[in-house]
Amino acid sequence: MDQRSLDQRGFGTRCVHAGEDGHPHGAHAIPIYQTSTFVFESVREAEEAFSGRKQGYRYTRSYPNTPTHMAFVEKMVSLERAEAGQSFASGMATEAAVALALLNKGDRILCTDVVYGGTNALFTRILPKFGIETDFVDTSNLEDIQEGLGKGAKMIFIETPANPTMKITDLSAVSEIARDAKAVTVVDNTFASPYFQRPLELGADIVVHSCTKYIGGHGDLLGGVAIGRKDLIRDVSRTEALTGGTMGTHEAFLAIRGLKTLHVRMERHAYNALQVAEFLESHPKVEWVLYPGLESHPQHDLAKKQMSGYSGMLSFGVKGGRRAGMKIMDGIELCSLAVSLGSVDTLIQHPASMTHAVMPREVRERLGISDDMIRISVGIEEVEDIIADLDRALILA
Ligand SMILES: Cc1ncc(COP(=O)(O)O)c(C=O)c1O
Repeated sequence: MDQRSLDQRGFGTRCVHAGEDGHPHGAHAIPIYQTSTFVFESVREAEEAFSGRKQGYRYTRSYPNTPTHMAFVEKMVSLERAEAGQSFASGMATEAAVALALLNKGDRILCTDVVYGGTNALFTRILPKFGIETDFVDTSNLEDIQEGLGKGAKMIFIETPANPTMKITDLSAVSEIARDAKAVTVVDNTFASPYFQRPLELGADIVVHSCTKYIGGHGDLLGGVAIGRKDLIRDVSRTEALTGGTMGTHEAFLAIRGLKTLHVRMERHAYNALQVAEFLESHPKVEWVLYPGLESHPQHDLAKKQMSGYSGMLSFGVKGGRRAGMKIMDGIELCSLAVSLGSVDTLIQHPASMTHAVMPREVRERLGISDDMIRISVGIEEVEDIIADLDRALILA
């Protein structure tokens, strides 16, 4: 289908058709270009490609990688309404390359205080070795952002909804403040997916995803992608080529296949998550529930303003604290006890001892990642079965 006319079509149509502009030999699905290098007809042709005068496939580590990677990136660019994109081997490879590409020694990052534990560790343990320091602030508080920018931050890194506290940051307001301060706004959109939230349309410069989650959607791949402004992504691609965090070609194929059903899966994730959140909120053994789609969420109105739905992630606290939480997680049968998220099946985990175990305890507690917190990535099974599994485990706790 003509890719230019696709821009006018709806999200679901672009999930299915973007990047799929006629494959060789009439192949209906994109071929997996399982090759590490590309052959040239002449040295002149090779010179044009390597000098950058003409865009072409050269070596799989370098943009545009392979036609399979390109089709994946084109789909993401269409879905996030971006100018350009670069795929990666994982979400962490993406974040590392974005920081190394866009920052210099002596620069500072202003980062949401509650972020994925790996992001926190990258920013506090690895980047300082290159002279890049990070200030962690409550990005849902615009005064804290202004103050942080006053220290000369060159990049604002936002995760919203945040992992695992479900805190929401106002993307339009932060992007505007950052633009005035000449800082680049990077948003980790892993939790919401472009189906429910498009940060670039709200003023951000770059969106990053762990494609391991909703983009792939089936818990069977590791991948990442950065999409956004063309001038910035050009530098990110150069860094990808030189640091080598290249997405595998088979993973690019799986990510394309995942994206074809993104809109359908996300609807069901969100529908199920709201039912589960309401069930937990009314359960006598549950202390509190955080789900942006609940009216009781402290920032429900802001979530409603910038998201078109609330995705499939929620956290809750169980009465009886850590010990009761452990019992629940050992008591579940249908749900799986595992880190990661965004898969078709329901995953349950304990942030304090799993995803956020790398964070010092006092930092964790200050940020609200309490010992009684349980995080659920609600899958697309029949919701009655998910609720029955949780109910049985809660009764045992
Ligand atoms: C919000 C978020 N961002 C980034 C990452 C890192 O992604 P990956 O595991 O693909 O490196 C994760 C992983 O759990 C995540 O939850």
